[in-house]
Amino acid sequence: MLASRIFSRGFASSSFQRGAKVAVLGAAGGIGQPLSLLLKLNPHIDRLSLYDIVNTPGVAADLSHINTNSTVTGHKGPEQLGAALKDAQVIVIPAGVPRKPGMTRDDLFNTNAGIVKTLAEAAAKHAPKAHILVIANPVNSTVPIVAEVFKKHNVFDAKRLFGVTTLDVVRASTFVGQTKKTNPENINVHVIGGHSGVTIMPLLSQTGTKFSKEEIEALTNRIQFGGDEVVKAKDGTGSATLSMAQAGARFTDSLLRALGGEKGIVEPTYVKSHVAAKDGVEYFSTNVELGPEGVSKIHDIGPMSDYEKKLYEAAIPELKNNIKKGVDFVNKA
Ligand code: NAD
Ligand code: LMR
Repeated sequence: MLASRIFSRGFASSSFQRGAKVAVLGAAGGIGQPLSLLLKLNPHIDRLSLYDIVNTPGVAADLSHINTNSTVTGHKGPEQLGAALKDAQVIVIPAGVPRKPGMTRDDLFNTNAGIVKTLAEAAAKHAPKAHILVIANPVNSTVPIVAEVFKKHNVFDAKRLFGVTTLDVVRASTFVGQTKKTNPENINVHVIGGHSGVTIMPLLSQTGTKFSKEEIEALTNRIQFGGDEVVKAKDGTGSATLSMAQAGARFTDSLLRALGGEKGIVEPTYVKSHVAAKDGVEYFSTNVELGPEGVSKIHDIGPMSDYEKKLYEAAIPELKNNIKKGVDFVNKA
C-alpha cells in the first residue's frame, strides 16, 4: 500500500490541487537526497526547493532532469536560505549530523540544536505559515526548539509543527510482519511517545494480533532500538537514510493530501499534545488526523496492556528531560 502510494503515478489523480512548494533543508545529505528524489516524484508538489550548506546545485540539476511536472531549485549557503524558504507551504528538515555506533540521539544535541535553531529562525522570518516537518535528531528536543523559536517570533501555531516519527511505525509493521510471516503493508502498529530508545512505545496490544510474551518483549525492544541496528551495520558511516527518506516522503505526501482537502488521513507524529499533559509532557506522538490546517485531531493513546503501561512509566522522565533541554536551549541562550 505504502510503496504504491510513493511510486505509483496513479495517485496523480487524487483530490489535491497542484501547487505546493516544498523546501528540504539538508537536501544534499544521506536522507536529503533520496527524500528529494521521492518528492520529485510526488504530483502534489510543483516547486521543490533544495537547501544545504554544500552540493545543492548538483543535486538540484540532477533531479531537475526527471520528467515530472515540477521545478527544482538548488540553494547553497545561508545567503540563499531566504529564497529557498520563501512561499514554501511545507519545510522538511533533515539537516544535522547522524549518530555513530555507541552514541545516543541525545549525544547529537550539541551539534544539531544549533543547526535546527538557525533554520527555524529563518523559517519564522521567511515562511512563518509553513508546516515544519522535523527529522533532525534528537527529535524529542528539536521539535520544542522549533516551537520556542517560532514563539519568540510570535508566529507559533502548534497545528503546523511535526516531529517525523513515521520510521518507527514503518519499522514496527516490518518487524511484526517478519515475526508473523504476513505482509507488513497490511500491519498497522500504533507507536506512541517520542523518537529515541525507551520513549518509542509500540502498542502491540492494539493491533488485534496475538503475541506471546517473548514475542512482545523481542518486538518492543527491536522497534525501540531499530535505529541502532542500522547505525551498527553502517559501521560509523551514518544512520538510516533510505528507509527514513521513504518514511519522510510518506509523511509529506499524507500532509499534502490533507492540506489539499482529502479526509481521513491519519499518521502518527510528535506534536504539541494534550495526551500526556497530566504527566507534565508537552510533546507526544500518537495517531494524528491531518487536515487543511495541519493537525486536525490528536487521537488519545487508547487502551494499554500492563506491559505497555510500564513502558509508558519508563518513557515519561526521559521525554520530559528531552523537551526541557530543547526549550531551555532557546530560552536560556
Ligand atoms: P548527513 O550527514 O548525511 O546529512 C546531513 C546534511 O545536513 C548534510 O548534507 C549537511 O551538509 C547538512 N547540514 C549540516 N548543517 C546544515 C545547516 N546549517 N543547514 C543546512 N544543512 C546543513 O545525515 P543524515 O543521515 O541525512 O541524517 C540527518 C539527520 O536526520 C540526523 O540528525 C539523523 O540523526 C536524523 N535522522 C532522523 C530520523 C527520524 O526518524 N526522525 C531517521 C534517520 C535520521
Ligand atoms: C533512526 O531511528 O533510524 C534515526 O533516528 C537515526 C538514528 O540515530 O538511529
